[in-house]
Amino acid sequence: MEGGDRPLGAKVTVQAKPSAQGAQTKQGGVQTAVTNVPEASAPLCDFLDLKAQFAEIREEVMAAIAKVMESQLFILGSEVKLLEEEIAGMLGARHGVGCASGTDALVLAMLAVGVGEGDEVITTPFSFVATAGTIAWIRATPVFVDIDPITYNIDVTKIAAAITPRTRAIMPVHLFGLMADMAPILELAKSRNLAVIEDAAQAIGARYRGRHAGTLGDFGCFSFFPSKNLGAAGDGGLITTEKTEFDEKLRLLRMHGSKTKYHHDILGTNSRLDALQAAILRVKLRHLEKWTRGRQERAKKYRALFAERNLREFVTPPLPPPAEFAHVYNQFTIRCRRRDELREYLRLKGIPSEIYYPRALHLQPAFANLRGAAGQFPHAEAASAEVLSLPVFPELREEQQMDIVNAIAQFYAASAR
Ligand SMILES: Cc1ncc(COP(=O)(O)O)c(C=O)c1O
Repeated sequence: MEGGDRPLGAKVTVQAKPSAQGAQTKQGGVQTAVTNVPEASAPLCDFLDLKAQFAEIREEVMAAIAKVMESQLFILGSEVKLLEEEIAGMLGARHGVGCASGTDALVLAMLAVGVGEGDEVITTPFSFVATAGTIAWIRATPVFVDIDPITYNIDVTKIAAAITPRTRAIMPVHLFGLMADMAPILELAKSRNLAVIEDAAQAIGARYRGRHAGTLGDFGCFSFFPSKNLGAAGDGGLITTEKTEFDEKLRLLRMHGSKTKYHHDILGTNSRLDALQAAILRVKLRHLEKWTRGRQERAKKYRALFAERNLREFVTPPLPPPAEFAHVYNQFTIRCRRRDELREYLRLKGIPSEIYYPRALHLQPAFANLRGAAGQFPHAEAASAEVLSLPVFPELREEQQMDIVNAIAQFYAASAR
């Protein structure tokens, strides 16, 4: 989520004092004449507090880094191999292949299954840009299907109508940590001979009918961007697959098509996971289950707090998912009335929030060639105008959650008067 909708660092701090001369906006532009912007209160918390996470695991992380530094082996090697095995083992996948980012995970998966120019890949318009962006990047065509307004995931009932003779794959996204409804997707893909590439960037540890995100389709693509539930100290990614043939192809693709030094079987690229990142991720992986529970507990608490405040008319928190889904809450995203005003009100109270995502992908200039039009995917467009993500990290304290929900209640109470 580089650029507009995601902080480059994982941490979002509230801009407490915009400069009168000109403040850097999130879009990278400069606001001039910021004279009457009210000052925000002291921050209640960060949007995501990775410093608190680091404080808990500092010694383990530093020891892991030192070990790699002592070895001076930085490219692939045993740390990467062990991480691949440990993640595949945790997920119940046969193979795991580390790579440079979640973006590359999607690219490599598509290349491994032979998606390319002239092919169509069906996906959602309500996601981080990498989902459709990678499809277009390899010169295939993203074909959007609107979302389900409750889950924000692709509406599986609309996929069949989008299939054409050029369709090669379906790329569902498990948005915010909740898996897409995979059974109908898999059934359709099987009957129409399509590959399924799960964009599981936000969903490590999420489950559907007892199976982990990334293990149901032909490929599961994960991101270790720092703000993900399992985040590196930089970029990183991983692809899971059941098929040995794909595993071998992915390993070639990430390493210039080479198994043996200076012998190149196919064209590939350099998309390796660093040993340092792998070593850090191996430490964090040991804590992931506990952190996921922490996120789930905070989501439950938010739901209880919203119910207590009786805000149903104004705010729709994510529903508790049906029993067959385990949501891992990479984001806790509410749908709310007068979203932008609420967000500004919270900012002034020192409460950070984020909008994932403020513009549906079919309306992004980068996809202008697809000729998307306003009104084409009404649920994705409505979501982009109404969603707001609240802090939901394991170290978030109960009283902070209460303050956040109280502030939201105050906003609507004040506006009702
Ligand atoms: C849904 C989704 N897909 C793909 C990506 C790309 O991952 P990365 O930032 O590691 O390239 C992200 C990460 O932001 C994401 O959220």
